[in-house]
Amino acid sequence: MASPLARHFLLDPRVTFLNHGSYGACPRPVFATYRRWQRRLEAQPVAFMDPHHLAARFADVRRSLASEVGADPDDLVWVTNATAGLNAVARSLDLKPGDEVLTTDHEYAALEKTWAFVAARTGAIVRRVEVPLPLVSEEAFTDAVLAGVTARTRVLFLSHVTSPTALVFPLAKVIAAARERGVLTVIDGAHGPGLVPLDLDALGADFYVGNCHKWLMAPKGAGFLHARRDRQFLLAPAVISHGWTEAGGSPGPFGQSAFLDAFGFQGTRDPAAWLAVPAALRFRDDHDWASVAKQCRNLASETARVIQGITGIPPLAASDFCAPQMMAIPIPERDPVALHDWLLRVHGIEVPVIRWRGRTIVRLSVQGYNDAGDTGRLVAALREELGR
Ligand SMILES: Cc1ncc(COP(=O)(O)O)c(C=O)c1O
Repeated sequence: MASPLARHFLLDPRVTFLNHGSYGACPRPVFATYRRWQRRLEAQPVAFMDPHHLAARFADVRRSLASEVGADPDDLVWVTNATAGLNAVARSLDLKPGDEVLTTDHEYAALEKTWAFVAARTGAIVRRVEVPLPLVSEEAFTDAVLAGVTARTRVLFLSHVTSPTALVFPLAKVIAAARERGVLTVIDGAHGPGLVPLDLDALGADFYVGNCHKWLMAPKGAGFLHARRDRQFLLAPAVISHGWTEAGGSPGPFGQSAFLDAFGFQGTRDPAAWLAVPAALRFRDDHDWASVAKQCRNLASETARVIQGITGIPPLAASDFCAPQMMAIPIPERDPVALHDWLLRVHGIEVPVIRWRGRTIVRLSVQGYNDAGDTGRLVAALREELGR
């Protein structure tokens, strides 16, 4: 990887790394900050873990994140990852037999399991609408989703940026319409922060869960849960510990809201990834990441165009609905595991190959450490494979 920014990352230089989307990658100075927090914790764990001190540290870093994602800091809590935050929401809601959870055919497989688990225990039913492809307008998306709403729909669960198809779902109208119908909105924003502009207050979802360890490039284990103030009483963390109060209400046992206290204190945990989030935001500022992201977006979409030229298979969406630095590129049918392994073993390229609804998809991520040499290697390898 020959981008001048590649030297800031810990990635193995022998691998052409085109899969930022799965786990992100943390720049060296951000990782150093993370390690410093861990050492401070080890130096004096009792003082470090004092709930009032820790609450104050969390409040500082929540403020940094809040200005990045357009939220009030007191509506945000730290979770380990998007899966944990969405589990907390799904497993808190008081669903009854016959209640419906409406979702789409583009959701992340692990979260489909979460809702199946919840449905099996509550008697709720998960319904899935098909999002029409190619996705070309907000109206088409909104109409398809709302067509699935019935009198029994209690929850609408949608990705912001989809995992298998790298689409940006246009959420604003559908969230407003759900609200009018009294349907709770739960948004899987695992890929949102740092990839697409966020204004969570304006978006108005009841619950939005995001990751800082993907596109914001924080260390792994930095997720957050945003809940509207008037919905926070519905939630309890999976782990009930010192911070929880039976009566709910505010203040909680450590003087913050019940929501902040219950989620803030869940037993002994390593908070270093959350505390390093401001360093990740600073790294992006220091390196003019808006410009870097724009170059990455251009390189990703140009690469997708070249591969589409080879395959003749059209894109899954109009460009407005494709994730800026992550392109899902359909290719002729292949065994996804075999193709992934061949790309890695023979060409040293790490890129996900996905089977989704009968399609084979190469999901290309382009981040600041990549350059045109990296994407060129992918194009050459696919040309070789598809020419067979
Ligand atoms: C749409 C979506 N949701 C959830 C997740 C899970 O994220 P995490 O493993 O950080 O919980 C992913 C991971 O790639 C994802 O793509």
